[in-house]
Amino acid sequence: MSEPELIVRFTDADAARELRGEARAGLTDQPKWLSPKWFYDAAGSNLFERITELPEYYQTRAEQQILQRRALEIAEITGAATLVELGSGSSEKTRLLLDALRKQQTLELFVPLDVSASALRAAVDSIALDYPELRVRGVVDDFTSGLGALQSNTARLVAFLGGTIGNLLPTERAGFFDSVRAALRPGEWLLLGTDLVKDPRRLVAAYDDAQGVTAEFNRNVLHVLNRELGADFAPGEFDHVALWNAEQEWIEMRLRARRPLRVRLAELALDVDFTAGEEIRTEISAKFRRDRVHDELAAAGFRLHRWWLDDAGDFALSLAVAA
Ligand code: SAH
Ligand code: AVI
Repeated sequence: MSEPELIVRFTDADAARELRGEARAGLTDQPKWLSPKWFYDAAGSNLFERITELPEYYQTRAEQQILQRRALEIAEITGAATLVELGSGSSEKTRLLLDALRKQQTLELFVPLDVSASALRAAVDSIALDYPELRVRGVVDDFTSGLGALQSNTARLVAFLGGTIGNLLPTERAGFFDSVRAALRPGEWLLLGTDLVKDPRRLVAAYDDAQGVTAEFNRNVLHVLNRELGADFAPGEFDHVALWNAEQEWIEMRLRARRPLRVRLAELALDVDFTAGEEIRTEISAKFRRDRVHDELAAAGFRLHRWWLDDAGDFALSLAVAA
């Protein structure tokens, strides 16, 4: 087994600087907001893994089912020598792709990229152990701010699984697709997982589970602010809110103050006031229809080649080629 590489392009210092700027901008804005990438410290990444096992959270199982059925076909169509995975987390489902590409005997290099160094380290070590013939190069980076580490002369397949594309706002999403397209040569591939529009009751349940794991995940961002910015949020003073925005076709997660509060962010020398019921938007999770996926990919210079659903029609996996 060759030792896995780990390249850090988004350092703790970068994260600290960005979080300071964002907390100041987002918590002094009206309405208040934070972006979802701050959920994923070690505790948040573990909570996300627990979410993937919840009965209400069908996404992971649905995508797994599609990958089980289609991984070989994906390997045949793409003949990828480099598999890049964006927002890779534990890379658990990705093993299905690695197995198929190994069978196809094309795969040389696996490049998982994630903003969460702890999740990435664990994944890289575990994959390197189980795929000893594979070169593994983990990259700690923000996938919205450059994909410079993805250079490779061999045929690439970029996987962006789990529906994480839905956590970007529409303008961020367009910029993201453009930057992935710019990083690829014509004929290289993008494999994209998207959750689909469905009965809002099922969607809301998936983001407000009975065991309260998603609530804990949502409040985790307040623990991150307390630790990183010397803030004094009392997470128990905030209710977890998940609601369906029918106009935008996305789920919004928010944290709602139970009573009037003043929170000090010591490192920013900033006091933030909350009225009773005031909310911070912490995440959107957009849900898609085929036309939207097709059109947004086309606008960025991708041609949709395959569109696969799970049995229940809950989740889609798209295979698109750089035109
Ligand atoms: N792909 C996995 C994990 C999804 S969870 C799955 O399908 O189960 C979302 C992952 O994206 C987390 O590991 C999180 O750390 C990462 N992430 C979120 N925002 C990111 C960003 N801006 N840049 C890089 N990684 C990000
Ligand atoms: C990572 N991402 C696709 C998850 C989602 O469903 O939007 C994050 C999550 N938020 C709450 N539960 C899971």
